[in-house]
Amino acid sequence: MHQDIESILFSEETLKARVAQLGAQITADYRGKDLVAACILRGSYIFMADLTRAIDLPLTVDFMAVSSYGAGTSSSGQVEIRKDLSDPIEGKDLLIVEDILDSGNTLFYLRDVLAARKPASIKICTLMDKPDRRTKPIHADYVGFTIPDAFVVGYGLDYAEKYRNLPYVGIVKPSVYGGA
Ligand code: IMP
Ligand code: MG
Repeated sequence: MHQDIESILFSEETLKARVAQLGAQITADYRGKDLVAACILRGSYIFMADLTRAIDLPLTVDFMAVSSYGAGTSSSGQVEIRKDLSDPIEGKDLLIVEDILDSGNTLFYLRDVLAARKPASIKICTLMDKPDRRTKPIHADYVGFTIPDAFVVGYGLDYAEKYRNLPYVGIVKPSVYGGA
């Protein structure tokens, strides 16, 4: 285990098994649809790669980068689109692929921006959900894991841009971000 990690929340094996289940569920739900999986960079890149390979359907992928955080551990409430999707989504069945749903600020804003482009449908798939932290009325249609209020890293998720390449999801030692 990495020296800055206090404990492992989800091992590689656990992540793999749950992503396979999500992929099977999405495969069943999207048969015959025009699925576009939209990865919200950067935190979702590893989840996106594994999830799309677990979906046994024709689909296209697209990428969008947003930022609301800076180097802290809670949302600033300001959402900025740093890179937009490359292709139009009108008439498509859009599946937004997120790493974690926390305050809900990011997806509350993004869902409205994307809905205005008239996709046939919009759903959200998030690897993790922290419902206790929600300040905006938004929920995900597919949730990998519901977790308590802790700051997690790995499997794409960062703290100050580090730890994204850890193959598991872990909790960072508070000392790393200046806590006790
Ligand atoms: P929200 O806008 O507060 O829902 O935050 C969503 C975004 O904040 C996620 O896409 C992550 O990039 C980031 N985030 C929220 N909680 C965590 C965490 O525990 N670890 C790493 N990133 C997080
Ligand atoms: Mg993110």
